[in-house]
Amino acid sequence: MSDILIISGLTKIYGTQVKTTALASIDLKVKQGEFIALTGESGCGKTTLLNLIAGLDNPTDGSIIIDGVDITTLPDQQLAEIRCNKIGIVFQFFNLIPTLTASENIEISMMIAKKSDGEQQRRAKELLKIVGLADKANSKPDELSGGEQQRVAIARALANNSTLILMDEPTGNLDSKTSKDLMKHVRKLNQEGKTIIMATHDQMVAKDTNRVICLQDGKIKKTTS
Ligand SMILES: Nc1ncnc2c1ncn2[C@@H]1O[C@H](COP(=O)(O)OP(=O)(O)O)[C@@H](O)[C@H]1O
Ligand SMILES: [Mg+2]
Repeated sequence: MSDILIISGLTKIYGTQVKTTALASIDLKVKQGEFIALTGESGCGKTTLLNLIAGLDNPTDGSIIIDGVDITTLPDQQLAEIRCNKIGIVFQFFNLIPTLTASENIEISMMIAKKSDGEQQRRAKELLKIVGLADKANSKPDELSGGEQQRVAIARALANNSTLILMDEPTGNLDSKTSKDLMKHVRKLNQEGKTIIMATHDQMVAKDTNRVICLQDGKIKKTTS
């Protein structure tokens, strides 16, 4: 299998006066179809790493090659396209738009990718079915449980058929039963070929993956497969 992601010397230093080194020269290769857990104590750099891979922030140094393209040197327009078509991200706090229905929350990411209205609606319906929420298409986020909201967020991350799915503590706000149920959906996505990198505090969740990468003070402390 080929490497979908190659990270070299990735460094992120926040601040100008007071400097925080969130990532200190990380090297990492991820193969297509892998399921990776990113663990480590709060503040070790998990979110920073995911945000950089997602192109949501710029590194201080180093490169991030996704599918052969170094996203750290791309002009904004091209970065936006890659962000839209190759990467799906699921945040800890769901980040759904409260005034939109489950279906509309998914459609909006396809709107950005300029899919037609019909295609958006058809695909949103299909995705809601995949995450077991076919009957909740017209519910607003506050009418859904935490686990259901997170499944909508997963469906949204899948909308543009991205192969690389990033998840930042997706079970962090769910009880253990809901968390197990969510993981079933996540594992299934992986079995269907999605490459997944998931930050998690939960050892049970990490156990389900192919490789656990443990960060400490912005460095890779150890990797277990
Ligand atoms: N926007 C920011 N400005 C300054 N420091 C930050 C910022 N975001 C994160 N940090 C710092 O970077 C380090 C790594 O944070 P983070 O990536 O959020 O870790 P984790 O997700 O593992 O808890 C921490 O020391 C944190 O305080
Ligand atoms: Mg974090």
